[in-house]
Amino acid sequence: MTKFANFHCLLLLFFFFAAVAPNFNFVDASALSASSSGFLSLSCGASSSFTDSSGIQWNPDDSYINTGNTTAVLSLSNPHGTSPSRLPLRFFPNSDPGTRSCYRIPMPMNVSVVLVRPTFLYKNHDLRNQPPSFAVSLGTAIAAVVNLTVSDPWVEEFILLVRKKVMVFCLLSVPNGGSPVISSIEVRPLPDGAYGAGLGGDRWNHLLRKRFRINCGYNGSEPLRYPSDPSDRLWDADRYFSPSRLSAGFHIEVPLNVSGLIESPPVAVLQTARVLARKNVLAYNLALDILGDYLVVLYFAGILPVSSSFDILVNADTVRSSYMVHHGEASVVLQLVKSVDALNIMFQNITFYPQVNAFEVYEIVEMPQEASSTTVSALQVIQQSTGFDLGWQDDPCFPLPWKHVECNGSLVTSLALSDMDLGAMGLTFGDLLDLKTLDLHNTSLAGEIMNLGSLQLLETLNLSFNKLTSFGSGISTMTNLQILDLKNNSLEGAVPDSLGSLKNLHLLNLENNKLEGVLPQSLNRENLQVRTSGNLCLSFTLSTCNNLSDHPSLQPPHFTVVDIHKHSNHAKKAKIFGVIGVVCCMIILISVAIFKFKRWNETDAATSNPWTTAEMQSWNATKIFTYKDIKVATNNFKDVIGSGGFGNIYLGKLSDGKLVAVKVRSDRTQLGADSFINEVRLLTQVRHPNLVTLEGFCHESDQQILVYEYLPGRSLADNLYGPNNKKATLDWACRLKIAVDAAKGLDYLHNGSNPRIIHRDVKSSNILLDMEMNAKVSDFGLSKQVSQASASHVTTAVKGTAGYLDPEYYSTQQLTEKSDVYSFGIVLLELICGREPLSHAGSPDTYNLVLWAKPYLQADAFEIADECIKGTFDVESMRKTASVAVRCVCRDASGRPTIAQVLAELREAYTIQLTSSSTGGNLN
Ligand SMILES: *[C@@H]1O[C@H](CO)[C@@H](O)[C@H](O)[C@H]1NC(C)=O
Ligand SMILES: *[C@@H]1O[C@H](CO)[C@@H](O)[C@H](O)[C@H]1NC(C)=O
Ligand SMILES: *[C@@H]1O[C@H](CO)[C@@H](O)[C@H](O)[C@H]1NC(C)=O
Ligand SMILES: *[C@@H]1O[C@H](CO)[C@@H](O)[C@H](O)[C@H]1NC(C)=O
Ligand SMILES: *[C@@H]1O[C@H](CO)[C@@H](O)[C@H](O)[C@H]1NC(C)=O
Ligand SMILES: *[C@@H]1O[C@H](CO)[C@@H](O)[C@H](O)[C@H]1NC(C)=O
Ligand SMILES: *[C@@H]1O[C@H](CO)[C@@H](O)[C@H](O)[C@H]1NC(C)=O
Repeated sequence: MTKFANFHCLLLLFFFFAAVAPNFNFVDASALSASSSGFLSLSCGASSSFTDSSGIQWNPDDSYINTGNTTAVLSLSNPHGTSPSRLPLRFFPNSDPGTRSCYRIPMPMNVSVVLVRPTFLYKNHDLRNQPPSFAVSLGTAIAAVVNLTVSDPWVEEFILLVRKKVMVFCLLSVPNGGSPVISSIEVRPLPDGAYGAGLGGDRWNHLLRKRFRINCGYNGSEPLRYPSDPSDRLWDADRYFSPSRLSAGFHIEVPLNVSGLIESPPVAVLQTARVLARKNVLAYNLALDILGDYLVVLYFAGILPVSSSFDILVNADTVRSSYMVHHGEASVVLQLVKSVDALNIMFQNITFYPQVNAFEVYEIVEMPQEASSTTVSALQVIQQSTGFDLGWQDDPCFPLPWKHVECNGSLVTSLALSDMDLGAMGLTFGDLLDLKTLDLHNTSLAGEIMNLGSLQLLETLNLSFNKLTSFGSGISTMTNLQILDLKNNSLEGAVPDSLGSLKNLHLLNLENNKLEGVLPQSLNRENLQVRTSGNLCLSFTLSTCNNLSDHPSLQPPHFTVVDIHKHSNHAKKAKIFGVIGVVCCMIILISVAIFKFKRWNETDAATSNPWTTAEMQSWNATKIFTYKDIKVATNNFKDVIGSGGFGNIYLGKLSDGKLVAVKVRSDRTQLGADSFINEVRLLTQVRHPNLVTLEGFCHESDQQILVYEYLPGRSLADNLYGPNNKKATLDWACRLKIAVDAAKGLDYLHNGSNPRIIHRDVKSSNILLDMEMNAKVSDFGLSKQVSQASASHVTTAVKGTAGYLDPEYYSTQQLTEKSDVYSFGIVLLELICGREPLSHAGSPDTYNLVLWAKPYLQADAFEIADECIKGTFDVESMRKTASVAVRCVCRDASGRPTIAQVLAELREAYTIQLTSSSTGGNLN
């Protein structure tokens, strides 16, 4: 046992140091649930673990949060019951109103109801004598407003259903509220089904905030809690609520059977009571200060030698009449009381003995619905493409809307980004189906206006001050558009007729573009204002163009220059790397990284050699190129063979004649050196026929260049959808072969390599083909290594590509191999259906491949099979593949197969297909 505990300590220490180094912030599930009873007790700002006087183990909080400052305060009363009088705490200075400072708290396993108890203490740690006020949220709900006073600590208790593996608990700054501060967080499992009435059954849309939990007749100086209450609720003495001077506190130790009570109140609590022996009423008057709905829970136990009977009234309504409490029996009464701000609880009868043993009062707090996963995924991708951390995490609308986002309920109705470099119009704005306002002014958008046609509710679209050159085709389908602002772009040619179909449009601003010609007459309407100044020659009649000399286009257009922030931090980082001698630095960095991983991997069996000889050899096998080498090999970056968010890929030829693909990261995507090093390190360790081989790399000055083997067959995405796609020639057998190959590569990452590797960006454009159509998985820039022995999952910021992102991963931020399985399932769907994961081609409900395909796959996959392969596939082979695919994209990760299972089933499907094509049987 002690060995085990030590091991956990070591792990915790490791996490502490790991958290200091970026990229290594793993959280180990087993270390989190320190107690077998499912208790989690975090001492905020503490530097080490300790055990309190009740035998509960407390851990530091730094594995669960990555913001805030820590300090300690002097306190006479110590809630942990231990002697030290300096209590640690964590505070969040300089938080703008609306800032979320969040803990990610793992929920105990196999528990459906939990109690979460944060404690807040101020004690003038900042010497300003201004106790702060702030709000706290659980999931999407603002659960309470904390208004600290000098009489702190302030203790909140919340009861909620466990919906996710990880609960997000945030402190939210309010205007003039000061710096939020927190001392501890406790999580306690409660019995299944407890407080069901208040939690709304299976509807999961409420949480309970404790207002009172009174142990009637109890007169101790401290609340009764663990171990008397195995769920560690705090049962307060009732002397401050002493209902009536006439009633007496009873304490009688009668054996009680409480197994019939779902809430399982502690027997010790039920063995005390307030009893009224005379003809009078026993009443509690409780002020609640917030008008709302409340759950009242009353406990009764027959501790008196006689059975009693009485009426129970809440706010003058009779809840039970002639309620009987029999000797030796315990019972509970739950009552919902709506729209009140005070409670009067009365027990009355003329003849018998009204009594109450305990009661609880909970405020019912609504838990708003989360935004749809498509919306969240699209916004995450947009955030990534800005190169900024916009602070977009968890739900966009609740507890408070993200910066730049506005919501109506759980729908994202407005997005406003400006003065940043979005670069491409191809981003997934079209996924934000509920948008009414989209403001992207001054975001360096270039080219055609694209992918917005699905925004059927959009009313205001501001694309001004960009570099757009053409209208594209989507605009005319945005039928609700009222304001379209395209001023100060580079739009050329004529204004398309189709704009006339926007019947609700009342302002069209085309100022300062390079448009010319006659405006469509359909725009010449009374209720539509069209602004055209600053163009070459644009009007409703040709004649006004004749007199060119007084045309506004001849005056210089008045562009407003707006400063576009650069990602200065990253650029700086990259430069520093460049200055410190290049390759040496790289090797040291990578060695340190490997060393760390080995350490992490071998906490209990440390070896003196930080990395194995085999690894060093494989490392040596990777060539380090100079920038000059690269320039020569690529013929001064002549042939672009691919491009993406990361930059361009060039064709190169090494001195030995070998063709290579040279991936050059553009400035904007140089993420420190982290992801670059990540990819180099991983690729030097893994070699497999179905993984793209790294030939070498260059890390000089500002350059981050990776040199891969060249695969002339291009990517699967190119083959399916590219300009010269070979979709028609990819028959079913060929598609299955590609699937099997890619699955082999992933299987190697998940199961063949040690540590295991999660790819995190599986998609059809990362599956490359060689001349013989063998498939290889590429692009390890986002991949993560996971130690075999320890973590079953890691907590990490969500990265990946829209359309392929595992919904469970982005809602819980818990990364497992099953996330790759999900993405691979999307690739399988692409192979079956021959369409992209997100496509604006059809109606909004066909937009998302999974949502569209799932019902068909379960019923009749042939319906949606790619036209190009109809007639080429064996029915059984297709059915098998569809069945794997649909399980891969199961929303719940535990319902998904492992990649090894996927591979086995795909192999079978492939064999069936080959056998059937050679015998000519069973084709559809
Ligand atoms: C909080 O921590 C940051 C960084 O560690 C430090 O710069 C800042 O001064 C601290 N603020 C306070 C109020 O202690
Ligand atoms: C949770 O429950 C499942 C089945 O009910 C069981 O297999 C598993 O061991 C339990 N896990 C824990 C941590 O109790
Ligand atoms: C906090 O309490 C003080 C008095 O105790 C009151 O003046 C103040 O308005 C309260 N603030 C909030 C945000 O409720
Ligand atoms: C119990 O209650 C009595 C008065 O009812 C009070 O004098 C006494 O101090 C209380 N005991 C404790 C331990 O609080
Ligand atoms: C306790 O009560 C439950 C149901 O309320 C009953 O099933 C059980 O037999 C009782 N146990 C004892 C020891 O009386
Ligand atoms: C008191 O309880 C008795 C027995 O349940 C009942 O007959 C009587 O009506 C009650 N009295 C009042 C005033 O509610
Ligand atoms: C929010 O949505 C509801 C229901 O769709 C709608 O009735 C209401 O007008 C909307 N509110 C705003 C401010 O758009």
